[in-house]
Amino acid sequence: MRLDAEAIAAMPQAYVQALFDQYAPRFETALVDNLGYRGPSLLFRAVLSARAAARKPAFFKRAIDLGCGTGLAAGAFAKEVDRFIGFDLSPKMIERARATSLYAELEVADMVQGLRSQPDSSANLVLAADAMVYLSDLAPVLNEARRVLAAGGLLAFTAETHEGDGVVIGAGLRYAHSASYVRSAIAAAGLALAHLEDLSARNEDNVPVPGLVVVAVKG
Ligand SMILES: C[S@@+](CC[C@H](N)C(=O)[O-])C[C@H]1O[C@@H](n2cnc3c(N)ncnc32)[C@H](O)[C@@H]1O
Repeated sequence: MRLDAEAIAAMPQAYVQALFDQYAPRFETALVDNLGYRGPSLLFRAVLSARAAARKPAFFKRAIDLGCGTGLAAGAFAKEVDRFIGFDLSPKMIERARATSLYAELEVADMVQGLRSQPDSSANLVLAADAMVYLSDLAPVLNEARRVLAAGGLLAFTAETHEGDGVVIGAGLRYAHSASYVRSAIAAAGLALAHLEDLSARNEDNVPVPGLVVVAVKG
């Protein structure tokens, strides 16, 4: 379904919360084993490559994991991050994330609200692994990420994509953002694109779902 800007409604938070609360006990098996989910490792590789290109060490003092789920992204980055903060709408996913002991702080919160609770220039890395698919308009989260990142800090996220323009919503009620939409939204938020690659983070019916792996930097 193609949507114009006016018609793009935000995904109801109660829907996302209920979906992931009931999904939490079988999330990792369903996603990793059945759908070949690889978002966290793709993000990790993209961040390492962005850091290598900038000739900077890939170590981050303070990182924020948006839509942290059970903690798979924090697991992938654990050795390179001193202090992880996680936000997720689903209390049951947060419960699982807490059990990993990977996070210094965890909060049941919408990702934009969670970022709003953070001081300016206080994070070195913001991650969103398979979470932007629940947002139609990326502007609020990108703007808040830019505010919260310290100079030189990175925002890294996966997205699902399509070949047209703008944003569409699929049958699975996940938004797909075109590469041109992502490029413009990053520029409009005052971030610089460091890495954008066509890479799929998961399969559907054993076919890779078209995706993007994106790293942006705060100048
Ligand atoms: C597919 S899971 C991915 C979880 C984790 N990032 C990973 O890579 O395994 C998406 C997660 O995003 C959360 N989520 C979706 N929309 C959100 C929002 N607006 N704010 C915070 N969390 C959200 C869901 O509750 C769910 O836990």
